[in-house]
Amino acid sequence: MGIFITLEGIDGSGKTTVSKMLRKRLEEDGYEILLIKEPTETPLGKFIRSGVLGAGSGSAKAPDAMTALFLFSADRTVHIDEIKEKLNYLDIIICDRFIDSTYAYQTAGLNNTAEDEDLKNFILYVNEFILKQKKFSIDRTYLFDLKPETALSRLNGRVDKIDGFDSRPQDFFNSVRNNYLCLSEKYKRRIKIIDALAPPEKIAGEIKGDILKMLEKNKMIDKSDK
Ligand code: TYD
Repeated sequence: MGIFITLEGIDGSGKTTVSKMLRKRLEEDGYEILLIKEPTETPLGKFIRSGVLGAGSGSAKAPDAMTALFLFSADRTVHIDEIKEKLNYLDIIICDRFIDSTYAYQTAGLNNTAEDEDLKNFILYVNEFILKQKKFSIDRTYLFDLKPETALSRLNGRVDKIDGFDSRPQDFFNSVRNNYLCLSEKYKRRIKIIDALAPPEKIAGEIKGDILKMLEKNKMIDKSDK
């Protein structure tokens, strides 16, 4: 049974670059690794990209946080079945965004969601409920943390490519970051904070070291099961 890792952080925090480096390094060590992302590449995932993330920047109105929550969660629920199946024969699956993105983004202040404690608690509940129902868990989450100003300046010319970016108020990304930091307090054992200002090579090295330790532990568990 392989391990399941998630990467989280605001747009422009460098997750994609580091995940590609990680894949290369772990493959060189002989591990079978798969990089995946959410929203997924399924028809539902594609609908979310155009209907939820793409909306708001053009004529279409962006759906409210609750609609987005259910869409992202439906996409995820189907995704988990697929991930579980693949973990039977792969060593490592790394998913770019997962449950924590829904909490961090869908309560980040659009339509006053930042003050909506009921919504926040409900999303936490839904996330835990999905994992429990699916008998699934995340082995580790790496939270790429940095100031939104830095992340956005990194994105530079890519700003227009951020989905629905224009429709997001200035402090939106500050809220996303704070939400992530709250989650890291709540799930201290699972979520490791990564200083996203560090060079990607250094980050990839740090994460790889941690993953190798988990794989070692996993091997011992597998052996004791037999
Ligand atoms: P991103 O991960 O940067 O992918 P890409 O580079 O392909 O655009 O963008 C996905 C966006 O979706 C990001 O702004 C966060 C948002 N999102 C949510 O709002 N809720 C969620 O549950 C997930 C998975 C993503």
